Amino acid sequence: MKQNHGLDQGRLASTGPSPVSMPGETSLPRAVPRTAIARVLIRAARPDDLEEATRLERRIWGRMSATLNELQRRLFALPEAFLLAELHRPGRAPAIVGLTNGLLWTRDFPRSYFDYERMLPSSTHNPRGDVLYLASLGVDPSLRGRRIGLRLLQETIEVGRRRHLKYARLIASQRSRILCARAGFEVVRPLPRLYRQHRDLMPQPVLMELPLI
Ligand SMILES: CC(C)(COP(=O)(O)OP(=O)(O)OC[C@H]1O[C@@H](n2cnc3c(N)ncnc32)[C@H](O)[C@@H]1OP(=O)(O)O)[C@@H](O)C(=O)NCCC(=O)NCCS
Repeated sequence: MKQNHGLDQGRLASTGPSPVSMPGETSLPRAVPRTAIARVLIRAARPDDLEEATRLERRIWGRMSATLNELQRRLFALPEAFLLAELHRPGRAPAIVGLTNGLLWTRDFPRSYFDYERMLPSSTHNPRGDVLYLASLGVDPSLRGRRIGLRLLQETIEVGRRRHLKYARLIASQRSRILCARAGFEVVRPLPRLYRQHRDLMPQPVLMELPLI
């Protein structure tokens, strides 16, 4: 079994990992014993996770997904903020079912989000920045609605706080805005010119921000 890397195990134990019922299991009659209890662990990624993470990224983001090379660069840029959600089921190999990658930005970056769209997120990383920018938050489509996305957000926010960063930022869609607000983010402004070619994946993008101190 893979080990937890980079996250405080004690704190994890107090906040989770919470059990996740498998699809289909919840509809079983009460008399039927639950034979498989699944758990989701949030942990920092390692280089050997990235091929599987790239496949998940493709299932989530399709044509907008990051390549293996791009994920390698993001992991190299800020390893502690590249978090994975790993599903553990008895008798089965752990599976990566969610991810998010944090990068550092300065507060005045980018001048134009339209320009940002043409850059690879890894190339926007600035080690001197005090803003934790969250790229690629996503959960396997078959496991959504089980708070995995919220836990990924919360753990990444904790990484930012431990590093004494000042803000966390992300670009949310109309659909993910409620989730991000649940984690404490507030809308800074709409980004109507962003992702015009990808409105199916990112409808009505907005910049959201959370002060960390
Ligand atoms: C957004 C996303 C990561 C949420 O993951 P999750 O594990 O389902 O999240 P949680 O269970 O913690 O929270 C569920 C909330 O996510 C939001 N959500 C649900 N489906 C969504 C979808 N298809 N796309 C975006 N957000 C969605 C809703 O606000 C939902 O709240 P509700 O269940 O009360 O309606 C996941 O839906 C996803 O991967 N979406 C596609 C990629 C994306 O839009 N990423 C967000 C960029 S900031």
